[in-house]
Amino acid sequence: MDTERIRAIEEEGKKAFAEADSEESLRELEVRFLGRKSELTGILKGLKDLDAEEKRTVGPLVQGVRVALSEAFSAAAERIAREGRDWEAERIDVTAPGVSDPMGHLHPITSLIHEIEDIFTGMGFGIADGPDVESDFYNFEALNFPADHPARDMQDTFWVDSDGLDTRYVLRTHTSPVQVRYMETHTPPFRIIVPGRTFRCESTDATHEHTFHQFESLVVGETGSVTVGHLKRVAETFFSEFFGRSITVRLRPSYFPFVEPGFEFDISCVFCGGKGCPACKNVGWLEIGGAGMVQQKVFEAAGYPRGKYQGFAWGFGLERLAMMKFRIPDTRMFMSGDLRFIRQF
Ligand code: DAH
Repeated sequence: MDTERIRAIEEEGKKAFAEADSEESLRELEVRFLGRKSELTGILKGLKDLDAEEKRTVGPLVQGVRVALSEAFSAAAERIAREGRDWEAERIDVTAPGVSDPMGHLHPITSLIHEIEDIFTGMGFGIADGPDVESDFYNFEALNFPADHPARDMQDTFWVDSDGLDTRYVLRTHTSPVQVRYMETHTPPFRIIVPGRTFRCESTDATHEHTFHQFESLVVGETGSVTVGHLKRVAETFFSEFFGRSITVRLRPSYFPFVEPGFEFDISCVFCGGKGCPACKNVGWLEIGGAGMVQQKVFEAAGYPRGKYQGFAWGFGLERLAMMKFRIPDTRMFMSGDLRFIRQF
């Protein structure tokens, strides 16, 4: 067996692989030097006919050449792939500013609810909630709006089709029904707030929206332990913290069937502090919502004995507070789904 020839094949092959300059020529060289019909494969196949002595010397030599040529082929393949790449196009500017993944965030009303909850839990309040679709009983009846009471006209109600049901349902017009739900399962003393979504069937404008939010408060204790003074003080503490400036509260006599006495609730103007400015129409006060001392009839509807307890309650519009805090001119923006608005928060 011609060992010289085997070494020559190695030299020829290595040189050819090193000079190959395209994938195509490389593939041809692979067939020629390593393929089934190559000279080297022929020699390998012929090994079985050699005598034992020759096998011992030629066998390892041919195998070694085969390995060497395979490696030369791989190196050439890698080199050609590398040379074929457009390095300029693949250049990465590691100093370029990054592009961050788009990420959502909380709706401003949700953040505001969280902020309000933080302030009230800091004052020992619990947080309660109730259903958006509410029965006539909790939305009206238990709150001392009897069936044909004209006070129901105060609420522009979305009635839910309740055919075949034993009671009528509404989209709750306020968060007050949660007062009764909560009292049915809790015994005073307690203090809670109820942030939540509310609905009114009315035409919309810059200060009216059919879907909005309120937050109710309810503080109840033994008769004599909860007064209008507490209502004012708790509210002033909350508003001062919420607006980051000292706020005073003013109560004006008003009527809501579920409180007695009932009040219209104002705070000193958060913009001018009460001196008078365009935001408060120069009166120095901003209207916030309703408040009062819980009607004994409401306690009775919740199953409490008449006269045993006393408490205060209020219901404030959340959008109204948000508009004051962030100086937003139109309440319809909150539910508009307009991302240009939402992204500002
Ligand atoms: N529920 C009333 C409304 O939506 C607001 C209100 C007034 C709530 C007086 C109260 C209250 O808790 O005491 O118009």
